[in-house]
Amino acid sequence: MRTFGCQMNEHDSERISGLLEADGMAEANAMDEADVIVLNTCCIRENADNKLYAQLGQLKHLKKANPRLQIAVAGCLAQKDRDLIREKAGHVDVVFGTHNVHRAAELLTEARESGPIVEILEETAREDAAAFPSALPAKRESDFAAWVTIQIGCDNNCAFCIVPAVRGPEISREFAGLVTEVKALADVGVTEVTLLGQNVNSYGRDIQLARRQAGEDVRVRPLFGDLLRDVGAIDGIRRVRYTSPHPKDLRPETITAMAETDAVCEHLHFPLQAGSDRILAQMHRGYTGERFLEKLQEARAGVPDLAVTTDIIVGFPGETEDDFVRTLEVAAEARFDSAYTFVYSPRPGTEAAEWTDKFIPAEVTKDRMERLRTVIERSSRARHAERVGKTEIAAVFGPSKRDPDVMSGRTRQNKLVHFASDKPLKAGTYARVKIVDSGMHYLRGELLDITALPTHRTRIPVVSA
Ligand code: 5AD
Ligand code: SF4
Repeated sequence: MRTFGCQMNEHDSERISGLLEADGMAEANAMDEADVIVLNTCCIRENADNKLYAQLGQLKHLKKANPRLQIAVAGCLAQKDRDLIREKAGHVDVVFGTHNVHRAAELLTEARESGPIVEILEETAREDAAAFPSALPAKRESDFAAWVTIQIGCDNNCAFCIVPAVRGPEISREFAGLVTEVKALADVGVTEVTLLGQNVNSYGRDIQLARRQAGEDVRVRPLFGDLLRDVGAIDGIRRVRYTSPHPKDLRPETITAMAETDAVCEHLHFPLQAGSDRILAQMHRGYTGERFLEKLQEARAGVPDLAVTTDIIVGFPGETEDDFVRTLEVAAEARFDSAYTFVYSPRPGTEAAEWTDKFIPAEVTKDRMERLRTVIERSSRARHAERVGKTEIAAVFGPSKRDPDVMSGRTRQNKLVHFASDKPLKAGTYARVKIVDSGMHYLRGELLDITALPTHRTRIPVVSA
């Protein structure tokens, strides 16, 4: 299983692995030992496409060496490119999209018996178990932390973004079902959950609207704050995270729920995309630079110690030097803890991809990207340095990559923290750590004491749907 792209994809990969395991397969140690290779793809930016086709090229010789090998391409790029995948890479056996992940095992079997299959659905299946990743068997990367999809698709129309085209309209998962699912996770020892959705603020609106249209007397209102509270109240759940809210829709109820629910971590991913009002309008983002900063201020006022991360696109079509300088100004004022910065990449089929006469030359975006990185790095360093002297709780995920005597974990603010420990600590341990030093992307601490030991079963049984 090879995954490209976002957490939604990572989570889909967990489902696919879970389904294949339930079908009798086991994970291979290496690519060249595998009888099935699934590439779960991303199409959000250009390099994602290129990487996939390069990787498919490399797999050709494996197929020659092992004629039983089946190669499947899943995910967003499959949804977008469909038959093109097999046109470009005829050795691919199965292509399936974002709406039929639940068919992974069957499609591989069918292809084994009757040849290559491309199956892309236009719409998500309506039954819960098929539509939502978490309702399917899943094999998770980490035993103490789990992702839970609360909503799929997106109803916005950001001019640069391919997501609505490949993931479809917004559909929320039933509230009660979600809470039950997190309870079941807590029962097997999961202590941290991350709620996933493209626009979590509108979570539940579609469900309520449908009930209202069916004649029920329900008020259509955002349910996300309630969900945070109910999930946060579940016994055993120590940390709740979520990603992402859309700045235009961040509501006071969400901020209050964050502040009042102990388990909800002090971290907000708040995608700015651009600072200039003109560009934001052309992107259809629904806020101005000023409004973004006001909302951020409200969030920080409501949730003390809030860490804020963001996404920024450089070189959107027509971005002038003045527009870009405004991005620098807003980013500097926002004092982000960290940022994902992207060079604009035209995605065929999206609105902005048509504006070819306004594309920004590569040397200009390169220079702008460097200047933006300087601004982001300055606030990253400063925000990390502000943690020195504080005591934080680290959720340990294992020994550090560089030094087995050093443990690595994440603070509630989602910052990476390294600290020495005489004995190795198991993943899922919570430890109090005093922060003594910091860098741009990490904190260094000293272990004070252990606050909780892991309780998860080391291997969560795969259940059939
Ligand atoms: N070009 C560059 N970046 C993009 N993103 C989405 N679409 C594009 C694109 N066409 C970025 C946005 C989004 C993040 C997940 O990817 O910043 O928030
Ligand atoms: Fe894409 Fe905009 Fe929807 Fe986010 S809100 S997934 S950027 S269309």
